[in-house]
Amino acid sequence: MALADAQPTIRRRPLERLARRLHQYDEVKHAFDFATPIDRSRWYVCPTLTPLYYAPVYAELTKLQQRRYNQLTALCFSELIAFFETTFIPSVLAALAASRPAASDDLVQCLQHFVMEEQEHTRWWRQLNRLSEPDLYAKSENAIVRLPAFGQLLLRQMTKRPNWFSFVFWVMLALEERSLEISRRCIQLPTEEIEPRYLAIYRTHLSDEVRHVQIDWHLIERYYAARSATMREFNARLFRQAIRSFFLPPTRSAVCVIEHLINECPELKPLSNKIKQQLGEVSTDSGYQQMMYSRESTPITFALFDRFPEMHQMRYVLQSYQPQVGVQHDGC
Ligand SMILES: [Fe+2]
Ligand SMILES: [Fe+2]
Repeated sequence: MALADAQPTIRRRPLERLARRLHQYDEVKHAFDFATPIDRSRWYVCPTLTPLYYAPVYAELTKLQQRRYNQLTALCFSELIAFFETTFIPSVLAALAASRPAASDDLVQCLQHFVMEEQEHTRWWRQLNRLSEPDLYAKSENAIVRLPAFGQLLLRQMTKRPNWFSFVFWVMLALEERSLEISRRCIQLPTEEIEPRYLAIYRTHLSDEVRHVQIDWHLIERYYAARSATMREFNARLFRQAIRSFFLPPTRSAVCVIEHLINECPELKPLSNKIKQQLGEVSTDSGYQQMMYSRESTPITFALFDRFPEMHQMRYVLQSYQPQVGVQHDGC
């Protein structure tokens, strides 16, 4: 099969069209039921999204333990998504303020709406976590995730300087495209198997994030593609390091989930070391890598890697990435 036939064409939508459709879904966003108690008999996210699913030890957990692991991982996802949504906002605002030449009205509108939507999403994730575990989230928005303070400070400083650190827009694109895959997999579960509020929020999040991914693509065009080869190489290195260290392998937060699980299920204590060891090995599993980043789960990110030679090095970080040179996508 010719390479051009292997992948569907990926299109970048014009900003005018994105701006015209900004308010299309606004009226459905306040309809979530945060009053009815959560249903703990169901998955909160699709099990294939959880790292331990790819470890042999997962099969040694009982159905109840697997479900509880799934629910704790979903709480962790909500904390992480909220953290990155609030972290991206300064970079988007900085992009807007630093725009030279001045951003078009369409881009300004898209970015302002993007910021408003991410603030709203953050409220959803936090409400969802409080509904799921009222005691755990009574005092803090972050009960599971513990990100190193220095790392947070560094990320916040870099996101405020998109002219130097344009790799933040690559991070945004990769994470937001991954969030589409998270939503898609949750939506594909049989409806009776997934908690209805999680399903509703992931479904609504999908419709906003489809647009955000397109905006990220426009930001990469403006802040990355137009830069010198040296700046692009510098940012490509930073992006590779970020994926290798933070956005591919299960990190400290995934270990914290295991610790919460073992606290709740002390019968799992004898398996604790085995679970943590196998969790650490999951990042080399081909199924896990495919779920995290691949032409199926992150097609726009991979198509853009193809376009920039300095991004072809990503094949040494992501098993599922092999550069495809010569495949032309609209706008790539
Ligand atoms: Fe979001
Ligand atoms: Fe987003």
